[in-house]
Amino acid sequence: MVEQSADVERAVRLLAAGEVVGLPTETVYGLAADGSNDSAVRKVFSIKGRPPGHPVILHVAQPDDVHRYAHAVPPEAERLLRAFWPGPLTLVLPRSALVPDVVTGGLPTVGLRMPAHPLFLEVARRLGRPLAAPSANRFGRVSPTRAEHVRLDLGKDVPLVLDGGPCAVGVESTIVDLSGKSPRLRRPGGITPEDMLERADVRVFVDDGEGLPVPGSLPSHYAPRATVVLAASGELWQRVRTEALRRRVGVVHRGAAPPDLPDSVATVRVGESEQELAHDLYAALRSLDEQGVELVVSVIPEVASGSVGEAVLDRLKRASAPRPE
Ligand code: TXA
Ligand code: MG
Repeated sequence: MVEQSADVERAVRLLAAGEVVGLPTETVYGLAADGSNDSAVRKVFSIKGRPPGHPVILHVAQPDDVHRYAHAVPPEAERLLRAFWPGPLTLVLPRSALVPDVVTGGLPTVGLRMPAHPLFLEVARRLGRPLAAPSANRFGRVSPTRAEHVRLDLGKDVPLVLDGGPCAVGVESTIVDLSGKSPRLRRPGGITPEDMLERADVRVFVDDGEGLPVPGSLPSHYAPRATVVLAASGELWQRVRTEALRRRVGVVHRGAAPPDLPDSVATVRVGESEQELAHDLYAALRSLDEQGVELVVSVIPEVASGSVGEAVLDRLKRASAPRPE
């Protein structure tokens, strides 16, 4: 159910009063607070269980707002935002004095993004302030791509979640750091380095993000409750059968499942195209968690380089990385 204007009104009133609200974006749902209000942003951290000192993205309602919240905007950043905003691209830039420390985690930079979801933009415009919004999940868990995911995870702590339907992209925004000498990819997402070269003439360098003390660069981020292992498509079903002898297994697969699987195995089929795969992945992991599986065996999808499939592979690798105790 897509929300009516009365709910938008309510969201704006709550945000203006320093409360947090779950809002849809085209990537994943965000847990939003007035980004100019310290104590409101702190509420976001405490509800998510996110340790302080991690930066959150500041979401603006128009491209020109970049000049209010960044104190320097290099030509590459201008070209990127003209080409891709509103859309799934976050630009890390030197912050202006208008950005509170709690938003940047004390860093000299700020992550800025103008999301493409009409409901989000309407709320931000009516509020007249930028919105600090991390993904609306508990810290370290899979991001929500539907309003009901947010309600299940955080519902009792959040007074309102606006329902904007399932997220079109399904994985978090691409993050490009423009605060150094050359543009660097900090997180792969819906917009790829190839897209940025083609449409904005910006060459983005890909590095491993090591040394960045921020969530999303932690190896085990984006994980469901169940342990996750990855299997090449030719080995997937054999692995599933072996594991299913010992524990309750869920499978994320592409294409048809074999007809003779043990009854205890839960399966979720994800889309064939890279876009469908990104769109389906988090809902698939959440659904297997809900079915109480102990182990998720996910296919390693074959994806075209330069597609959003690379962001999916990144998230699957993180979901299957060893977790801290
Ligand atoms: O698609 C998205 O980006 C979603 C929607 C809600 O907009 N938001 C999201 O936020 O994924 P979050 O907080 O879950 O992840 C934001 C990531 C952080 O993990 C951090 O790595 C990076 O953005 N980030 C934010 N500000 C930064 C900064 N100043 N420097 C480096 N990285 C930053
Ligand atoms: Mg997140």
